[in-house]
Amino acid sequence: MIRINEHYAKLQASYLFSTIAKRVNEFQAERPDASVIKLGIGDVTHGLPTACIKAMHKAIDEMAVDASFRGYGPEQGYDFLRDAIARHDFSERGISIQPEEIFVSDGAKCDTANIQELFAQDLRVAVPDPVYPVYVDTNVMAGRTANCENGRYAGLVYLDSTEANDYVPAPPSEPVDLIYLCFPNNPTGATATHLQLQAWVDYAKEHNALILFDAAYEAFIRDDSLPHSIYEIDGADEVAIEFRSFSKTAGFTGTRCAYTIVPNACRAFDTAGKSQPLRPLWNRRHTTKFNGVSYPVQRAAEAVFSAEGQAQVTALNDGYLANAALIREKMSALGYALVGGENSPYIWIKTGQDSWDFFDRLLHDAAVVTTPGAGFGTCGEGHIRISAFNSHTKVVEALDRIAKVLG
Ligand code: MLT
Repeated sequence: MIRINEHYAKLQASYLFSTIAKRVNEFQAERPDASVIKLGIGDVTHGLPTACIKAMHKAIDEMAVDASFRGYGPEQGYDFLRDAIARHDFSERGISIQPEEIFVSDGAKCDTANIQELFAQDLRVAVPDPVYPVYVDTNVMAGRTANCENGRYAGLVYLDSTEANDYVPAPPSEPVDLIYLCFPNNPTGATATHLQLQAWVDYAKEHNALILFDAAYEAFIRDDSLPHSIYEIDGADEVAIEFRSFSKTAGFTGTRCAYTIVPNACRAFDTAGKSQPLRPLWNRRHTTKFNGVSYPVQRAAEAVFSAEGQAQVTALNDGYLANAALIREKMSALGYALVGGENSPYIWIKTGQDSWDFFDRLLHDAAVVTTPGAGFGTCGEGHIRISAFNSHTKVVEALDRIAKVLG
């Protein structure tokens, strides 16, 4: 008899952003005249940088000719891209990461979801609350939790991120084995200092734990004192895997390209307590289950690191950050406490009201889509997240409408 994975029955009926899309579609069906402005899911809206488009066109032309055609590429990514990442993102910042430690993929969402299959079943897993739902749902699917009660899965350790700790949780008092961290944070937009990350690295060493560090939003950091990578912290290469993405950095949400760093020094342990390197395991998984990102997309990603690409990407992200500054200004003027939006495209707003009701009110009365905080965890109740990803004109219009409804 074919049987299902019953752990799926523990999940909420649908993924957060699917639930939101359904509510928006229902509203749009009721009110076809309403011009909905989307500041919900963090999806970029501007065209790709021209440096990327030029590189992609050239690569497509190469694919049309037998002499330069490419079939299967290396599953881990072409050397030209891994070299460019190692140089630009790491060695130019004084961090030693070798190209062989970089695994190119089609998304940080997939990588943060898939990485947990390298680890044992009976781990103590710590997740922030609020949290990017992928970290939780994939561990539920894998059977590492019991049922969800009052918004929390028994078996997970939740790291409350609240006003009291400036939305940056400290290591727990109890020992855990696997820790998910994301900075700049999705959803709160909070950032972590060197000292805060050092505390996590020290904790991971002390407890033989591993940190999964999601740095998908590092390109939005403008404060030079903040770390862009966990590998800026001494000893992190032994205890942390880092996830990066071109999605938000360079507008690749629909183009798909990301990368995961598994340093040679990074380790986990077998049942005998013997240290085992994780890079060969991820390499084995990646080569078995993944066939590489397409050649034209990797060429487009490489172009992000050219001088022209860097100037265009910075301008793109500065534009989104200008939206974020405006959202901060207008929502503060309406009397709401908030964080994020300075080194991050997300603004986390304390409404003190039921977050789904608040979301519905903004959708129905302002035709503006946000994300209800409760969708990210129990600590998200009483908050909404506003994303800065849209055109400046639409953000201005959305904020005018919100001010009319809430003002
Ligand atoms: C978000 O809005 O939280 C992100 O866009 C989701 C994602 O990157 O998958």
